[in-house]
Amino acid sequence: MAAHIEVKERAKNRVSGILGSRYPFLQGPMRLITLGEMAAAVSEAGGCGVIAASGLSGERLRQELKRARELTTRPVAVNIPIYRPNALEAMEIAIEEGVTVIYTSAGNPAKIMERARAAGVRIIHKVSNLEMGVKAQAAGVDAVVAMGFEAGGHVGREQITTFCLIPQLADALVIPVIASGGIADARGVAAAFALGAEGVEVGTRLVATHECPVPEFFKEAVCRASIGDTLLLGREAMPIRVLKNRVTARVAGMDETEADRRIASEGDAHYVQEGGDKDTAVMPCGQAAGMIKQVQHISEVVEAMMKNAGAIAKDIVHTLEEEAG
Ligand SMILES: Cc1cc2nc3c(=O)[nH]c(=O)nc-3n(C[C@H](O)[C@H](O)[C@H](O)COP(=O)(O)O)c2cc1C
Repeated sequence: MAAHIEVKERAKNRVSGILGSRYPFLQGPMRLITLGEMAAAVSEAGGCGVIAASGLSGERLRQELKRARELTTRPVAVNIPIYRPNALEAMEIAIEEGVTVIYTSAGNPAKIMERARAAGVRIIHKVSNLEMGVKAQAAGVDAVVAMGFEAGGHVGREQITTFCLIPQLADALVIPVIASGGIADARGVAAAFALGAEGVEVGTRLVATHECPVPEFFKEAVCRASIGDTLLLGREAMPIRVLKNRVTARVAGMDETEADRRIASEGDAHYVQEGGDKDTAVMPCGQAAGMIKQVQHISEVVEAMMKNAGAIAKDIVHTLEEEAG
């Protein structure tokens, strides 16, 4: 009897418990992209949608939270980069609007833990190396999102890949680890769980969806990209993985100030949500783009990833057991 209860308890996924979602699937926050509508679509599909507070005024964040509420009754989280001057204001707005999970990044989560606990909000925090994970756990966060170097957007300076980061964090921490970076299909989900993760975060794969509000040229570029079509900008200070195009290829390898100066001198080069075209927009993108061939609905992506991962894992067990005789 006791053994039965133990198995049942272990079978309950801690990440979906924290997120309040059907699947332990977290949508990666993307500045000016993952707003109320996209986050709601992910939550409706069974994942946990995340509104990126970065770049939004307090009032706009409130509007996006209300928009999400109109579209889904499922929980939607908010990502707040802690170093931003309006981080505490964003947190208060999220709490007022009934958010139950705040996803912090870029700073020390210890700064907001007391307020989070008082409000009964769960905190998940993005890390890219072991030390950050240990520190976040000590600060009291509920889970870490561990992002490997192959991910789209800002990546860790230490260049640690998902395959090495996840097992080492899973061994070092007692809180659950959500794997991020390079996960774009059910094989990635199965691999992440095999490495010790209890959930996954997905960014690049969700860009190539009908619901993602980026320009069509970005989605087309993701679907056409091969594995070598991303590069790093700002290697020294805050490295960011983006799609290779005319502008980013020209400034790759330069230090951040020089790259910014050169991008500015192009006149028409911008972060993709602020302007530009396929040659001049800066489009954050992970190496997983190489395996994305088709724009799909978010619900199709989430279902295919989460439903097929178990079958893949069973197949692996079967093959390995047969091999071992
Ligand atoms: C277009 C794009 C924009 C992103 N913007 C942000 C951002 O504003 N803040 C952030 O914390 N992460 C950002 N990311 C990273 C994602 O949240 C996520 O961690 C990452 O995409 C996961 O790796 P993957 O791209 O291999 O799935 C962005 C990623 C992409 C692809």
